[in-house]
Amino acid sequence: MISEKQRAAEAAVEYVKDGMIVGLGTGSTTEFAVKKLGERVRDGLAIRGIPTSDVTKKQAEEEGIPLIDFAETMYIDLTIDGADEIDADLNMIKGGGAALLREKIVASASREEIIIVSREKYVNQLGSFPLPVEVIPFGWQVIFNKLETLGGSPDLRLQQGQPLLTDQGNYIIDCRFRQIIDAVQLEQRLNMIPGVVENGLFTSLCSRMIMADGEKIVVKERANG
Ligand code: 5RP
Repeated sequence: MISEKQRAAEAAVEYVKDGMIVGLGTGSTTEFAVKKLGERVRDGLAIRGIPTSDVTKKQAEEEGIPLIDFAETMYIDLTIDGADEIDADLNMIKGGGAALLREKIVASASREEIIIVSREKYVNQLGSFPLPVEVIPFGWQVIFNKLETLGGSPDLRLQQGQPLLTDQGNYIIDCRFRQIIDAVQLEQRLNMIPGVVENGLFTSLCSRMIMADGEKIVVKERANG
């Protein structure tokens, strides 16, 4: 039996058409989409991909998906990416895989952003998942302090006892806010803190959610396109 993640990913790949420039997200759900895209490319589908992380770039290369970067295009036709939490307005928390910065740039350049999730990612209110905040290493302690002042419980993300380095050479502070009442306002406030490069709140960027709920596929489109 295939998992919800795989089911959602394969449903999203059906939206990919010949000639498209495709944004390739990051994470275990997107991994299934990249694999399926690889199969379709080997069957003759002509696409060019833009990966959102070094990990996805490597997988896409192994799958034989031709890749380009923003030196060659300003726009992406369609991006397929995952999320850590998504609500009924299709606002999201992303960055569990530490790729939020490139993911947000790619999403912002995409005509369509399809978010693929399993049922447990769909929540009434964002905030149970700690919000990833990408910061430059210099002065991260000051930013940490400011996140506490904003009411969050921050935690520097570590890997083998050392601060995890993102693909851009930054740190991630995971900040638990419990309930995020106004995602748009919090997204903007966090990005006003000097040294914050980006945060994992993605508002107004998802155009279509594809959620696998058991064997069912639920598709939800953003109200204003
Ligand atoms: C990476 C992300 C991922 O899309 C998110 O963490 C979901 O990952 P997964 O599909 O493994 O549950 O935002 O930065």
